[in-house]
Amino acid sequence: MSSAEAYPLGYSQLEARRLAEQGALLEDLTADVFRRAGLREGMTVLDIGCGVGDVSTLAARLVGPRGAVLGIDRAASSVQTARSRATALGVAHARFEQADLASFETDQTFDALVGRLVPPPDMTAATPIVCGPVPTGYGYPVGVLRSLLPLIERTGIASAAEIDIDTLAMRMHEDALVYERVMFLPRVVGAWTALPPGE
Ligand SMILES: C[S@@+](CC[C@H](N)C(=O)[O-])C[C@H]1O[C@@H](n2cnc3c(N)ncnc32)[C@H](O)[C@@H]1O
Repeated sequence: MSSAEAYPLGYSQLEARRLAEQGALLEDLTADVFRRAGLREGMTVLDIGCGVGDVSTLAARLVGPRGAVLGIDRAASSVQTARSRATALGVAHARFEQADLASFETDQTFDALVGRLVPPPDMTAATPIVCGPVPTGYGYPVGVLRSLLPLIERTGIASAAEIDIDTLAMRMHEDALVYERVMFLPRVVGAWTALPPGE
């Protein structure tokens, strides 16, 4: 999706309010994930698909005023709302820019890259769980990471050598066996339709 119009949930005021309500609902969980990931005071954070700014302002609280957050979203209206909300909350170290993830370029480097429910929007039905000795399923998340590698490198999150993408699926599979872990793949998108009465 490259144009703002292609975003299925749209950019109405209602959708902006829904996003903010969703942000409040997911705040504790998101903060917990960020802390576990190592977000801490003084860090610089890039929030991709920031919407109306909930994740960015949360990250800004975690990194404090010595840190900084840049939220990017391709929707100008969301970026504007995010700016106003951050200002109203007195969060001066979160900035927002209109940009499409596919073409976003920056000279700035970041300590962390975060993103919640981007893209596509979450329309969840079910998720495959990968486990056991047969090494299926690991290629899929590795493929996603491979596509994100240019952005990850460009923003200074990690180097190609650190990630070692060509051996990652094999390493994940080995770890799953050694530590007796299972891997939840991302939830898949469901689809629904309004059928005529009686069908
Ligand atoms: C479900 S909202 C989530 C917003 C925010 N991360 C949150 O959790 O509150 C998804 C957001 O991703 C943005 N988005 C989707 N694709 C994008 C892209 N290619 N580049 C930039 N933003 C994108 C949409 O504009 C939308 O604001």
